[in-house]
Amino acid sequence: MKLSHTADLWWKNAVVYCLDVETFFDANGDGCGDFRGLAQRVGYLDEMGVTCIWLMPFYPTPDRDDGYDITDFYGVDSRLGTGGEFVEFLQVARDRGIRVIADLVVNHTSSRHPWFQSARSSPESPHRDWYVWRDKPPADGPEGVVFPDQEKSLWEYDEQAGQYYLHRFYKHQPDLNVANPAVRDEIMRVLGYWLHLGLSGFRVDAVPFLLETDGALDAEDLPDPHAYLRDLRAYLSRRNGEAVLLGEVNLPYPDTMRFFGDEDGDELTMCFDFIGMQRLYLSLARQQAGPLAEALRERPEQPKDAHWATFVRNHDELTLDKLSEQERQEVFDAFGREPRMQLYGRGLRRRLPPMLDGDPDRIRLVYSLLFSLPGTPVLFYGEEIGMGEELSFEGRNAVRTPMQWSDDDNAGFSTGDPEKLVAPVVQGEYGPSKVNVASHLRDPHSLLSWMKLLIRRYRQCPELAWGRYEVLPHEAEQVLAHRADQDGGTVVALHNFAGEPVEVALRLDGVESGDRLVDLLGDGVTPVGDGRVSLRLDRYGCRWLRVVKPGEVFLP
Ligand code: NOJ
Repeated sequence: MKLSHTADLWWKNAVVYCLDVETFFDANGDGCGDFRGLAQRVGYLDEMGVTCIWLMPFYPTPDRDDGYDITDFYGVDSRLGTGGEFVEFLQVARDRGIRVIADLVVNHTSSRHPWFQSARSSPESPHRDWYVWRDKPPADGPEGVVFPDQEKSLWEYDEQAGQYYLHRFYKHQPDLNVANPAVRDEIMRVLGYWLHLGLSGFRVDAVPFLLETDGALDAEDLPDPHAYLRDLRAYLSRRNGEAVLLGEVNLPYPDTMRFFGDEDGDELTMCFDFIGMQRLYLSLARQQAGPLAEALRERPEQPKDAHWATFVRNHDELTLDKLSEQERQEVFDAFGREPRMQLYGRGLRRRLPPMLDGDPDRIRLVYSLLFSLPGTPVLFYGEEIGMGEELSFEGRNAVRTPMQWSDDDNAGFSTGDPEKLVAPVVQGEYGPSKVNVASHLRDPHSLLSWMKLLIRRYRQCPELAWGRYEVLPHEAEQVLAHRADQDGGTVVALHNFAGEPVEVALRLDGVESGDRLVDLLGDGVTPVGDGRVSLRLDRYGCRWLRVVKPGEVFLP
C-alpha cells in the first residue's frame, strides 16, 4: 500500500514555528535558553495558533555552527536540559495539541564526533568508511563551497588520517558517507529513536548534499540516492504514519520536484519554496507583483499528498542565490545596501521589519501573503512581534538573538548575568524596550494580534491549504490577486505591493450575481455582479474575501 493511503495529513494546514531552544527562554537563569523554559512558553505559542514546533538542533555540540555540528545524535545538549526535560516539554506540547519536529542533520557530523575521531585514527577503524576519504582531492568531485568567507575547498587534509576528507560545509563538519550501508542503518536508527520519544518528524538539513554520494565511490558503484530517500520515508511512515520529512532543498523548481518522489509523494513530505521566497523579495523591492506571480505560475504542482512549505525568513542569511545578478542587486539596493548587511555576496543577514523600514502596513502585507499563498507557512521565532537583527553579532548570528519577551533586563529572556547570555540582545530601535511580546499581547493592533487573526482565518479556510489555486489576471501590476477553491468554497486574496492605494477589476469565474464577497481580515461585504467586481486596496493593503452564496450563512 502507498504511504499516502495511510498517512495523516495534519501538516497540510499546519502553522510551523521554528525556534532554537538556547535563545527562546531561560528558566534556570544561567543565560542559556532551556527545555524547561520552552515548556513554560508553549501556552504562548498555542494561543498564537502555532500547531507545530520545529526545534533547531538541540544535540550535544561544540557549537561552531549553531548546533549544526553534532557530536551525539542520541543526546540532548546539557546546556539545554536533560533527556527527561526534553520529553517533559514534548508532553506539554502534546497536551496543547502541538506537534514537534526537529532538525535532522546527518549530512555531516562535528569533527569531534567519536565516529570521526575513530575514523581518522586508522584505516582499519570500523568508522573509517563512515566518512569520505581521498588520497588527493578529485578533479571531478562535487563543486561549490557553501561558506566562501571561511572555506576555500570541499576537501581538507587530515594529518592523522593521512588523507583528505570531504566537507560540504565548514571543515569541522566532515560529510558522512551515505553510500555506506552501515551509515544508512545508523541514520534510520537516529530517526527511530526520536520518533519513539514522540517527535512528529524532521526538518532535514541540506538534503541534496546528504544524498550526494559522488565523492564517495566510483561512479558505477553508487547506490541510487533517491531510493535511499524513499527508504527513509517508508521507514518513517512505518514507525509513525503522521510523521513528516520537511526538506531543505534550495534548487530550481524542476530539480526540487525530484525530492518529492513519485506522483504520490514517496520521498520528502514537504520542500521549502526557496524560489518563491526569493521572488517575494524581488516583488517587494520592485513594488510589483510580477516576480512572485511568475514564481507561483511556474511552481510545479506538488504530488497529491505532499506540500510546499512557505517562509519569509529563517535562521540563515536571506539567500538570494537563485535571482540573477541584476535582480539580486535590486534587492540589495532596496533592503541591504550596506556591505555589513550582506553575506557571501548572495544574501542578507537581516530580519524583515528593518528591511521594510518598520512600515507596519508593508510588514502586515508580507505575513498576509505567507498565510494566504499555497503552502504550509513556517515562521521563525520573533517574526510575530517584528524583531530586528543585531548586526554587531557576527555573520548569520545577526538574526539569532534572544527572544524579546518584555522590556525587562535581557529582554525578559533570562534573569542571568547580561555578560553571560548565550547571544546578545538586539540594541537600538528594535531592542526590547520597543519590541517585546508583553506589549504586543496588550495591543489589539499589534503585529502579534494581526498574526493571530491571519492564523485563525487561515485555519478557517481549508481552501487555502488544500485547494486548487490560481493567480488571477488583471491590469494593476502592483497587485497580486489569487484564488483558492475547494469543495465548492472559494477564497480570493489581494495584495498591493505599492505604497499608493489602487482599485483592481477582477473577473471571478463561477461567481454569480447575488453572490457576495465577505472580507475576512476586516469588515466589508462587496456584491458581485455577473462574476465581475472592482476592489479597492490601501497602500500596501491586503484583503481576503470569501465568496458567500445567497442564503448562505457566514460566521466570521
Ligand atoms: C543548513 C542550515 O540551515 C545551516 O544553518 C547550517 O549551517 C548548514 N545546513 C550546515 O548544517
